Amino acid sequence: MNIHNVNFLISAVNPRQYPAANVPELAFAGRSNVGKSSLINKLLNRKNLARVSQKPGKTATINFFDIDGAINFVDLPGYGFARVSKEEKKKWGNIIETYLNSRENLSQVILLVDSRHTPTEDDRTMMGFIRAVCDRAVVIATKCDKLKKSEIEPRMYDIIKTLRLEGDDIIIPFSTVNGMGVEEFWSYVTEIIGVE
Ligand code: GTP
Ligand code: MG
Repeated sequence: MNIHNVNFLISAVNPRQYPAANVPELAFAGRSNVGKSSLINKLLNRKNLARVSQKPGKTATINFFDIDGAINFVDLPGYGFARVSKEEKKKWGNIIETYLNSRENLSQVILLVDSRHTPTEDDRTMMGFIRAVCDRAVVIATKCDKLKKSEIEPRMYDIIKTLRLEGDDIIIPFSTVNGMGVEEFWSYVTEIIGVE
């Protein structure tokens, strides 16, 4: 995909604030600090479009980005950050669930997990939400630059097993540091989502 114009659209909390639902939308979900905002910046080749957290757990809104008027990217609030109150966690859970259940132009939710760790209970809960609204699972394993080359494959198998990936599901090893996975991601977008 040749990207020309990328625009931040809006930070939203409830559906009344969402932008028009007139292009396919890809939403990125995952634990706080897993690298959602960094990945969006990397994929779009922009330094500071999606804000990379100084303090993890601070992105509590849904951020929408428009790419050439052809596709939207959505940066969902990170979950699973230990140092927020139960009430706060519930509020974020509601924001994410409402989005997943109500967004009619949602093409795919992409789950980001840290390549170094076995997915958590929270990740598996998110996978359940994704299974409920998407035909397939697309998982991106972040921070692969922190693994030795020989560790990548066994780590992918652990993630595949823990999240019970199968059939048409996709897992992409990724790194914002060395660019691993960027091309694979865009070929997935053109082949599966059908955006050129
Ligand atoms: P929340 O907004 O809190 O949900 O976090 P997030 O998922 O958006 O994570 P963010 O992009 O802010 O990244 C968190 C930290 O991980 C930052 O310090 C990033 O620089 C770092 N990081 C993200 N991706 C990579 C990667 O591929 N490799 C390495 N080494 N660090 C990364
Ligand atoms: Mg973020």
